[in-house]
Formats: sequence, structure tokens, C-alpha cells
Amino acid sequence: MNLLSELKHRFTPALSELANPQDLPALLAMIRPAQDAKFGDYQANCAMPLGKRVGQPPRELANQLIETVTLDDLAEKVEVAGPGFINITISDQILNQELTQAFADLQRLGIEASPLPKKIIIDFSSPNVAKPLHVGHIRSTAIGDSLSRVLRFLGHDVITDNHLGDWGTQFGMILYGYKNFSDAQAYAENPIAELSSIYRTVRHLIDYHNSVAKLPDAKALLEKQEQLFAEFSATDPGEDKALAKKLKKDTKSIKSKIAAQKEMIQSLVQTIETVESDPATRDLANRHPQIAQNVLAETAQLHAGDIENKELWSDFMEHGMQEIQRVYDRLDIKFDFVLGESFYHEQLSTVVDELISKEMATESEGALCVFLENHKAPMIIRKSDGAFLYATTDLATIKYRMSEWKPDVILYVVDFRQGEHFEKLFDVARLWGYTDTEYQHVKFGTVMGDDGKPFKTRAGDTVGLEPLLDEAENRALALVTQLDEGKPGGPEFDEEQRKAIAQMVGISALKYADLSQNRTSDYTFSYDKMVELKGNTATYLQYGYARVNGIFRKGEVDIDDLRENAVPFEFTEDIERELALKLLRFEEALQDVISDYRPNLLANYLFELTQTFFVFFEKCPVLKTAGSLRQSRLQFCDLTARTLQKGLSLLGIGVLQKM
Ligand code: ARG
Repeated sequence: MNLLSELKHRFTPALSELANPQDLPALLAMIRPAQDAKFGDYQANCAMPLGKRVGQPPRELANQLIETVTLDDLAEKVEVAGPGFINITISDQILNQELTQAFADLQRLGIEASPLPKKIIIDFSSPNVAKPLHVGHIRSTAIGDSLSRVLRFLGHDVITDNHLGDWGTQFGMILYGYKNFSDAQAYAENPIAELSSIYRTVRHLIDYHNSVAKLPDAKALLEKQEQLFAEFSATDPGEDKALAKKLKKDTKSIKSKIAAQKEMIQSLVQTIETVESDPATRDLANRHPQIAQNVLAETAQLHAGDIENKELWSDFMEHGMQEIQRVYDRLDIKFDFVLGESFYHEQLSTVVDELISKEMATESEGALCVFLENHKAPMIIRKSDGAFLYATTDLATIKYRMSEWKPDVILYVVDFRQGEHFEKLFDVARLWGYTDTEYQHVKFGTVMGDDGKPFKTRAGDTVGLEPLLDEAENRALALVTQLDEGKPGGPEFDEEQRKAIAQMVGISALKYADLSQNRTSDYTFSYDKMVELKGNTATYLQYGYARVNGIFRKGEVDIDDLRENAVPFEFTEDIERELALKLLRFEEALQDVISDYRPNLLANYLFELTQTFFVFFEKCPVLKTAGSLRQSRLQFCDLTARTLQKGLSLLGIGVLQKM
């Protein structure tokens, strides 16, 4: 039983009588776990706002509420405190009954599947194939994978779909680079390395020409802004207070514009210098002045079915996919479908025709656009040169998903910077008639370095995902070695075993570092913190799990025996009761995760559970006790380990028997 939702359920009729239906969710949200054990286990704070509304002293109202709400069978104590807090202490009998049920249920730990399963598509990972995977991809991949696991566990019908970027301009870039300046031998030897180097070069050249073209205007604008600033500074407002105020405001604003403009110019200059300081690249840039247009032409030819480009594309795809698959294997990530952009290519013109015939799309400056009420800029679905866009493909994807799967929900686990794209996409989808589906942009922030800027290599490039995995494993190996060498009875692993453990610990640490963050904010990446043994890390949770196994080994506990001969749980110490409550909150944590698609709420829960377990472990001897108390404490250990294992598996993270 989910105690929290049961309590909310119990309060609902009484609250509905007193409040407007629209206020009910907020009032129910005020029923929550108590912050401090001295206020009981759960707290209902809804009498305060409600008292104000109905014009009754909150304490009186609270007393009235606890008269009407049936809690006797759940709680051993219900008290009104302070201005009108309702403090609820769950009865030991209920705790025991629920724990016993969880303990007996090896598969689901007493957690029921949703009686109203939904069909949910999760669009996640979705990297662009021609570019190397980078640190940002861990976010979408880990979050999407974890959501799919939690939703499935709670009984929903989940379809995971990797919407690969396998058809966009990035292919035009490598097509152009490959044809014009690739190193055939390097390509033969290591195609992926050569392709990423080509990609990088083309990117630099395009940025270079762009910057060269932009610089004069940017400088002219700066000059104008500086002139304005000089004018403002020279103006004497005299006694005119209004003018003085306006001048002050204008000066401040122009100053910040100047600063931003200078920064922009600085970055243009830097882009130019990077290319010009290297004779070979500069030479290449001079020989390819039209590179941006040429890249678009290569892309257009690919889309038009040009044989040579199509063949090269297949070749590039094969290598690119091998690379991506290798990373997915290391991360243990699987998809039900991998339907990339290229899959929808043939359907784009039909989509556009449909939007025209529905009079949703109109022409504007040669481009075909869907104008939307809530957005200034329209969604462009066909450019004036006839090319389709990312958005057009996303529309085709929605149509396909609707006809194929009829989902109740589609989740897009994508960087927050695509927020506007998805807002428009969802608006267009609804206008189009797909109104019965819930669309969610499950957005996430940027991975930052410790300098407070997006995490980059020393050379200023984005950090690749594979080197990151390697480094995580190296750090983990150092830790595992240190732990092993510090064991009282001497080390117990050989080099191979240490490596295998480190692999698991390293990858888990990396995933967990991401999943434990509030997804909507940026987070600072730190190798050191990631594998810390004490802290909110996967390593700590895995260590907790391994400790339980250590106890079982030491006590030569037969797990099957333990489970078959369950006794009632005993609460001789406060911490045992606390651990019981924590264990029973697993379901609450999972519900929290899916209510706003936030895996960090599960991570936090598991962290707190582990902390509580270690306190229990310190205060309550397990193997040194005997009889039913020993059995009860071993049951606590086992249920904690199983909750950790299940919880971690829902984050896509495994456990180790020993470490
Ligand atoms: N390939 C895109 C990128 O790397 C992400 C795609 C997300 N999914 C979608 N349906 N648009 O930015």
C-alpha cells in the first residue's frame, strides 16, 4: 500500500465538502511525510489555508477534520498541534502488515501495477549520427531509459523510440568534406575517427566564413553603441529629474549592450584566429569559400536520391551506428524502435500537403509556414528552396506514431534549448487534430565544467562520451583497488575481477551523477564526486547493497530460509521503525518520479534509504542477536537490499555482491 496516497484518499471526501474542486489538489498536496519524527509519520497541513477560506479557526477545523476522516485502522495516533497541524502516526501493526507483504513479494515488493495503464512513447537519446556522441547525450539517454523502466514497472505500456538524426545537414557536411579533403588511407584505417575529424574541419570552416562575414557589421554596431554611450555621458540633465532618470536607465542599458557586443566580437575573432593561425586550415578555408552553400547542396542531393551520395551515406551510417552501438552496449541501453529521421523522408511531402489542404499552412516569403496563436514566429515546414525541416520530420513522426501505436502520452527527452520547437510542435499537432494525446517535453539542462561554463575539453571541444566512460572506469578502478587493498583480511580480487567491478561501478557512477540531479537545472560535472564512497553516488548505494551481502556471508545466512520463515518485524529501536517507514515509501518515490518525469526523486529516495540503513546497522547488532530479533533484523537487511537493487535497476544501474 502506498501510505501517502491512502491518506490522501481518506481525506478527499471531507476536503471536497469544504473546498472548491479546483483547490483540492493543492490541499491534498499539503498531506505529506513529516519532516521530523516528533511530529508523527505524516502531516496534514491543509487546515490552515482551508480555515482562512471558510472563516473558521484552523485548529477547530483540524479537529473537525480528524473527527470525519476515518484513520483508526491506519493510525495509532492523530493529533492536532500548533495552529492546526494534523500529525499522524501510523500504527505499528499497519507498518508490520505492509512490510511483511513487501517482504513476501519477491517480484514487486508489494507495489501494485497501475489499474489504468497508459500507452507511452518515449523519444530519447536520438543522437546525430555523423557527429561523435558527447557528454550531453548521457543526459537524454540515462533519463529516458530510467523513465521507461519506472513506467514499465508501474504497469504502463511503454514504447521506446530512438529518433536518430540520420538525415540532416551534418551528412551534407561529411559528404562535402569526404569528397573534398578526406584522407583515404586514414578513412580506411579508422573510418569513425576520420569522419569526426572531417566533421570538425567542415564545422570550423563554415564557422570561419560566417565569422569573417559577420565581423564588419558587428564592429560597426559596436561603434554606434559606443557613440550613443558617449552622447548619453555628455548630456547634462540639469534640474530635469525625469530626464536624469531616463539617462541613467539608457546608459545602463547601452553599457550592457556594449559588453554583450564585445563578447560576441571576441568570439568571432577567436573563431577566425583558430583557423588563421594554422596554415593548413587557413589554406583549406581559402580554397573553400562557398562551403556553407556547398554543404546544403550536398544535403539536397542526398535528399533528392543522388546515387553517389546515397551510397556514401549508407557507408557513413554503418560506421556511425557501430560507434553508437558500442556506447549503448557499454551503457546497457536498448530501444524498441530506432526510427531515425531518414525513415520519414518519403512521408514529408504528404504531411505538408495535408497541412495545406487543412488550411493550416500558408506561404510567407516563399516558405510554407504554420502560424500559431501563442508564438510570434511561425513553424516553418518547407523552406523557400523546397527543403523540409527538422520540424517537418517531427510532424511526420507524430502522424506515424499515432497511426501505428495510438499513444496516450509522448515524452520527448531533449535538451531545454529545443523548448520553443516542442511548444510549437505540440500546438501544431493539436491543431492538426491529434488532441487526445498528452505531449511532454521532458527537458534537461546543460552539463557544466567546474569553471561554470559548458563542460569542454582543454582544447575547447565538447567532451566526447566515450572518453568520459573510459575516465569514469579508470577512476572507479582506483577506488576499487584502494578498497580491496584496505580489507582487513587482505585483498580478495585479482586484476580481472577488479576491472570487471570497476566497469560496473564507473558506468553506474556516471549514470547516477546525471540521474540524481534535478533534470531541469544545469549541473556541474565532477569526476571526483562521481565515485565518492560517501555521498549521493551510485557507489555509496552499491556499497550499501554489498554490505548487506557481506552480513549474510559472514552470518552464513541462507536467504531462502530467511524468506520462507518470515517473522513479524520488531521495532525495538526507533531506527527500526524509521527504516520500516522508509522502506514503505518506495512506492511514493516511484509515483513522484512519474508525476513529473523526474528520476532524481528516486535517486534521492534510495540515498536516504541507504543512509537510514547505515544508521540502523550501526545501532542495531544483527548477527550478535538471536531468535526472532535476529530474524527480524535480517529481514530488514534483506528488504533494504532488495529495495536498493530494484530501485537502482529502475535507474538502469546494477548491483554487486562484493566490492
Ligand atoms: N537529433 C536531435 C538532436 O540531437 C534530437 C532529436 C530529439 N527528438 C525529436 N523527436 N526531435 O538535437
